[in-house]
Amino acid sequence: SPSILRTVAELRERVRTWRCAGERVAVVPTMGALHEGHLSLVEAAKARAERVIVTLFVNPRQFNNASDLAAYPRTEADDAAKLAPLAVDVLFAPAVEEMYGSGFSTTVSVTGVSDGLCGAHRPGHFDGVATVVSKLLLQSEADIACFGEKDFQQLLVVRRLAADLNIPVEIVGCPTVREADNLALSSRNMRLTTAQRRIAPAIADVLLKSAAHLATGGDAASVLEAARNALQKAGFDRVEYFELRDAETLEPLQHADRPARLLAAAWLGETRLIDNVPVVPP
Ligand code: PAJ
Repeated sequence: SPSILRTVAELRERVRTWRCAGERVAVVPTMGALHEGHLSLVEAAKARAERVIVTLFVNPRQFNNASDLAAYPRTEADDAAKLAPLAVDVLFAPAVEEMYGSGFSTTVSVTGVSDGLCGAHRPGHFDGVATVVSKLLLQSEADIACFGEKDFQQLLVVRRLAADLNIPVEIVGCPTVREADNLALSSRNMRLTTAQRRIAPAIADVLLKSAAHLATGGDAASVLEAARNALQKAGFDRVEYFELRDAETLEPLQHADRPARLLAAAWLGETRLIDNVPVVPP
């Protein structure tokens, strides 16, 4: 089983012994409730470094909704057990007071890629993510950090802050792990009722079909409109966004005339699902 460390001082001490031995260190930041998507990041980390740290911290500053934070699953013992067969070295699971001591006053705020999409609908969310990820990268002194494309906008926010703050880490983006019916794995899937779970894969299906249409260069507006309608028809209660963006800058696009990404967020009852797929021009 991984050693569970609670303090930044213990983490730094452990990492120092590794670095002195010339070992590379990879970190996989998570909020726990680990599933195969998280475990794929651990495998990517193991393939690139001798030592792997998984962080488990349900970061209050990135929740814009108090009941979402309260409902977030906390399953540390199960998470540690899932990591045991993967030979993870350390599970870093600090308390909130260790991360945000009294007087904590600093926010890392990334403009540009944080605008729109989830940034528009979850005020403060990406400030919370950028602040905690900056801290985790600096605390772990990792050479490599793995993030999922499942949260594509988050991945770009993290790439931006690492570059802008000169944090000496390589950010590795990893493909989205899906269920057999294409639903992207997410800890929020557990909240779906049986009926909602049957509707949920429509978000991936509509994204994939729309991406195939857009890849041939057609005007995005009509394809996006049809996609929003298709999700409503499939049973989603509300489509928050369904947009075509530049894959690197996240600028809105009218045509997929360069590497692009199609991104969506939609609600089933109280549960918000997000997903995205690449649009590759032929
Ligand atoms: P969390 O939602 O726990 O996700 C941790 C990492 O797992 C993220 O990089 C996310 O993109 C990745 N992930 C989630 N589902 C995935 C899937 N189906 N396939 C591949 N990767 C997947 O994202 C966060 O936590 C937090 O915002 C965090 C970065 C830890 C900062 O608090």
